[in-house]
Amino acid sequence: MTKTALITGSTSGIGKAFAEKLAYENYRLVLVSRSAEKLAAQAGAINEKYKCTIHTIPMDLSIPGAAQQVFDAVKQLDLNVQVLINNAGFNEAGRFSDTNMNKESEMIQLHAVYTTEMMKLFLPDMVANGYGRILNVGSTGSYIPCPYDAVYAATKAYILHVSKGINAELKWTGVSVTVLCPGSTKTEFAAKAGIEDTLLFKLFVMDAKKVAEIGYKAMQKGKSSVIAGIYNKLMVFSSKILPAAITNTLTMKMLKSRL
Ligand SMILES: NC(=O)c1ccc[n+]([C@@H]2O[C@H](COP(=O)([O-])OP(=O)(O)OC[C@H]3O[C@@H](n4cnc5c(N)ncnc54)[C@H](OP(=O)(O)O)[C@@H]3O)[C@@H](O)[C@H]2O)c1
Repeated sequence: MTKTALITGSTSGIGKAFAEKLAYENYRLVLVSRSAEKLAAQAGAINEKYKCTIHTIPMDLSIPGAAQQVFDAVKQLDLNVQVLINNAGFNEAGRFSDTNMNKESEMIQLHAVYTTEMMKLFLPDMVANGYGRILNVGSTGSYIPCPYDAVYAATKAYILHVSKGINAELKWTGVSVTVLCPGSTKTEFAAKAGIEDTLLFKLFVMDAKKVAEIGYKAMQKGKSSVIAGIYNKLMVFSSKILPAAITNTLTMKMLKSRL
């Protein structure tokens, strides 16, 4: 039986790489992001290459109630989702006193509230069917408090914690929740946040396809979390053993030094 995968933020970067990977693996796709045009173009291109069934749901997921609307749209299509990838996200970086609160509220809504609501809505069917895989995209910031990116990192810390707690409850159900924690990855993300010329995005930047492969493998194995790449693993490990003052200074340098 063909399984169905729902991927948010599929039109660019890591989400786009996930969409290609799941199409390659023969899934039926439900792709969600804001731009209807980009979704239509993406569905056409993937269908031409992999001949798989693709549904698209154009929606701004940072608007309250979006998760229920996505769930209702999936039910209207009479689909059962076996794989749910909550990937859509963005960054509002900078000194907290200067950043835009509206953007930060949208980020909290999209990363924390929306992701939680999607799990609440899709998990019951997965548990009832004895199988399901959820992958939520976190960040190395899930582990490291980030000066000059404080709210973003805090939303990603929330994703890590809520996902790990829920995943532990799901033991023996056939359902798992995995958090993929990428570090700097070559996508549109940094340019949209105006941080593409910082040290953080010039050193050890990973390829989106590689990051999605790592997430896909961890999700299929039912792992609770995975940090993408050796450099990012080392960075997270160092943050656990170094004094907070040193980690803060290094993080600030990475986010503030322009190259
Ligand atoms: N790139 C990195 O260095 C990096 C590092 C750590 C974690 N991450 C995380 O990885 C995930 C994917 O990011 P990326 O690097 O692939 O970024 P990206 O290239 O900017 O792609 C983001 C995707 O999310 C969609 N999206 C953004 N806001 C949305 C909204 N309000 N509603 C619906 N869709 C929305 C975008 O499509 P539309 O604009 O058309 O809606 C796009 O498809 C994010 O959660 C990000 O926090 C990225």
